[in-house]
Amino acid sequence: MQLAIIGTGYVGLVTGTCFAETGNNVMCIDINEDKVNQLKQGKSPIYEPGLDVLLDRNIKEDRIHFTTSLREGIKDAQVIFLALPTPPGKDGSADLQYVLDVAAQLSEIITEYKVIVNKSTVPVGTAEKVAAVMAQKLDKNLFDVVSNPEFLREGVAVDDFLKPDRVVIGTSSDRAKKLMEELYQPFVRQGNPIYFMDERSSEMTKYAANAYLAMRISFMNEMANLCERAGANVDNVRMGMGSDSRIGKRFLFPGVGYGGSCFPKDVKALAQTAREYDYEYSLVTTVMNVNDKQKLILGRKVKDCFGSDLSGRTFGIWGLAFKPETDDIREAPALELIDELTAAGAEVKVFDPEAMENVKRIFGDKIVYANDQYDAIDGVDALIIVTEWSAFRTPNFERMNELMKAPFVFDGRNIYTVEKMEELGYYYESIGRKTAHASQREKIAVPTDTIVRDRGSID
Ligand SMILES: NC(=O)c1ccc[n+]([C@@H]2O[C@H](COP(=O)([O-])OP(=O)(O)OC[C@H]3O[C@@H](n4cnc5c(N)ncnc54)[C@H](O)[C@@H]3O)[C@@H](O)[C@H]2O)c1
Repeated sequence: MQLAIIGTGYVGLVTGTCFAETGNNVMCIDINEDKVNQLKQGKSPIYEPGLDVLLDRNIKEDRIHFTTSLREGIKDAQVIFLALPTPPGKDGSADLQYVLDVAAQLSEIITEYKVIVNKSTVPVGTAEKVAAVMAQKLDKNLFDVVSNPEFLREGVAVDDFLKPDRVVIGTSSDRAKKLMEELYQPFVRQGNPIYFMDERSSEMTKYAANAYLAMRISFMNEMANLCERAGANVDNVRMGMGSDSRIGKRFLFPGVGYGGSCFPKDVKALAQTAREYDYEYSLVTTVMNVNDKQKLILGRKVKDCFGSDLSGRTFGIWGLAFKPETDDIREAPALELIDELTAAGAEVKVFDPEAMENVKRIFGDKIVYANDQYDAIDGVDALIIVTEWSAFRTPNFERMNELMKAPFVFDGRNIYTVEKMEELGYYYESIGRKTAHASQREKIAVPTDTIVRDRGSID
């Protein structure tokens, strides 16, 4: 099939590449010239595991092309996917300006029947809005608008796209339905369903899924905060509750709050959609409020320990991306933490396997960019773990101990056990669990250089 993908970001590039991988001819269109030039040279502008190999193969086999020209890009396409940004507007609702602008442009250049598929995350009723904009200039028989929300997760996006749990397609057109079914058949050969439904339900499904997942995170974050106060261990609680088949084990890990380009904006947009329909979706509002507070938890823990004036202190941060296996830092909890620490006078050294360049664009020379994870903790008062990259899971603890002024770790992702850190002699704070070697904290009032480093003296 001849396809066009408008918007070549995390969703558009993965979508285009995976459709090319199943034999389609794909034109990817983006207004960002740098991105398009990079892609023309076979380089991916984003980090996404497995994407490079597929991109390379499909470029070599002439199935995927890149352009900045909308007219050239959609000329031969039977199906046009919109993978455009839908950022939050002032009131929190999804800003449809990118989607509607492109719809208006398409209505002026389409000359034969095409299916316009909305892959961006858009509020209920958007398919109708897109169709109405297009119908101002274009005969209604020359297009159908379909809703096809994307459920891929950054970090495993290629795998998710190639083997989706389900595909959701909202359309009332038989002609569009047939094309969409044909297009997605190769991805559901193992029997995973394609759910056809009306456009509004399809649009709502995406928000329901993201808000529900965000709710699980906020629920566990609050549970962790309570466990910490009540002397329970949230790891045990998580396992005990998650093994109930009605609940399930996934998405129950407490941490520093959700970030990324989706959950924060989608939860906000759903709350706003509810208001537009005169409904106060209070659970969703609470999920947001809990998350806003949780994002501050590491900063609070550090200040509780070192005081609110952090001048003269240096902290090492491991992990900047909003989650592992991506370079995406949109709404990443690490950014707020860096702001808070530097505002309190601290020096900050950071390391992330993929997100350093993106962070440099925000903080410039305000912070230090380490060469590797150990460089990031050389001479620091404490290590703070924000993103659970695999390389942080089994580090050389002895080397860490030698590099840091004192063995202090604040772990926002619970990647070590309290028992292990106790055994190693670390002061160790995590989320929803007791603090290892808590008494070591009393010594923090004195400059860390003078902290007794003799393991026997701890606790
Ligand atoms: N990132 C995810 O994990 C994810 C998952 C599911 C759904 N979504 C949704 O998919 C949509 C896109 O998300 P993303 O993360 O890929 O965004 P992105 O910001 O990475 O990519 C959007 C791309 O669109 C391009 N663009 C903007 N205006 C354009 C125009 N007029 N013509 C052509 N290109 C244009 C931008 O240059 C950019 O490359 C959003 O609605 C998002 O909510 C994202």
